[in-house]
Amino acid sequence: MKKTIQPLKEHLQSVYLTEEQIQGKVKEAAAWLDSKFEGKTPLAVSVLKGSVMFFCDLVRAMKTPVQIDFMTISSYGSSSDSSGMPKIVMDLAASVEGRDVILVEDIVDSGHTLKKMRELLNGRGAKSFTVVTLLDKPARRQVDIKADYSCFEIENEFIVGYGLDYAQQYRNLPYIAILKREVYED
Ligand code: PRP
Repeated sequence: MKKTIQPLKEHLQSVYLTEEQIQGKVKEAAAWLDSKFEGKTPLAVSVLKGSVMFFCDLVRAMKTPVQIDFMTISSYGSSSDSSGMPKIVMDLAASVEGRDVILVEDIVDSGHTLKKMRELLNGRGAKSFTVVTLLDKPARRQVDIKADYSCFEIENEFIVGYGLDYAQQYRNLPYIAILKREVYED
């Protein structure tokens, strides 16, 4: 059954990544993208909702002119395990045909979302497909897939903040924290 929770600071076990650590890596990722896409105008796609904070910081840190678009894709609902079948809740407004697409994710976990996005955008004729993720959790991978650029490889902890949620809460924390086990376990 879906739990209703208050996003209390007492529910957080500890800070996992500080705002400073995150913003330092955002700058490095932006510089990597700038060197890769020099002279081009890629289409940066935010995979909502989780990537929204990282996406906004990342594209603002880039010097390369980018166009932006959004896709809402969800596979977790209120569960902590992937359904394995990500659903498109809101599609892109722009055509990706012939475009250099930068796909921006908050986390690659099981890998199902990334696999689905890759198949979808390749099928729509994207010229190139570059994946940047803030977090990579390889311990949970179910699909053999990897981002092209990953800011942090993390352990198998339940984390929230900076876009990541538990039951739609905690997304607006400017840092990433570990959620106490008792909050999400029965
Ligand atoms: C989260 C996250 C990624 C995806 C990664 O999205 O934002 O898009 O899961 O998990 P995977 O590698 O196991 O597919 P979620 O479906 O929870 O929706 P949200 O972004 O709205 O939180």
